[in-house]
Amino acid sequence: MTDRRLLLVNGPNLNLLGTREPQIYGTETLDNLVELVMYTADEFGYAVSAVQSNHEGVLIDAIHEAREDCAGIIINPGGLTHTSVVLRDALTGVGLPVAEVHLSDVHAREEFRHHSYVSDIAALTVVGEGTAGYVRAVRELVAHLEQA
Ligand code: DQA
Repeated sequence: MTDRRLLLVNGPNLNLLGTREPQIYGTETLDNLVELVMYTADEFGYAVSAVQSNHEGVLIDAIHEAREDCAGIIINPGGLTHTSVVLRDALTGVGLPVAEVHLSDVHAREEFRHHSYVSDIAALTVVGEGTAGYVRAVRELVAHLEQA
């Protein structure tokens, strides 16, 4: 068990970052984002395993596997945020601290985006800060882990 590794999970459609509704999600690509998270985590001595999938089961399997070698999970579940009890159950099932991130301010958008199945089980939630929100999530999750 290495406790200085984080799992970064990006859910459905986040592979399209850079070209997907850039007025909402910005112009950074997923590769840029993963690099930024790895760079930030490295400053605190943490490694990062990254997964993005459009398939819920792949995300669930990656979350289960995180039990083996990760200390915490940073997750942007995409649209699954608002629909998936299964994803929530996976997160509570492994019991690792979770940082939930959304690029956009979900609370300022359509009403169906206001509810998250993850927020109440997350150690922290960051919304509406674009890719910088992932940097904040890394910092705050690491602080949470180190004070635990
Ligand atoms: C999102 C917000 C969700 O409502 C949406 O379905 C996404 C991206 C965000 O990062 O702002 O796919 O999680």
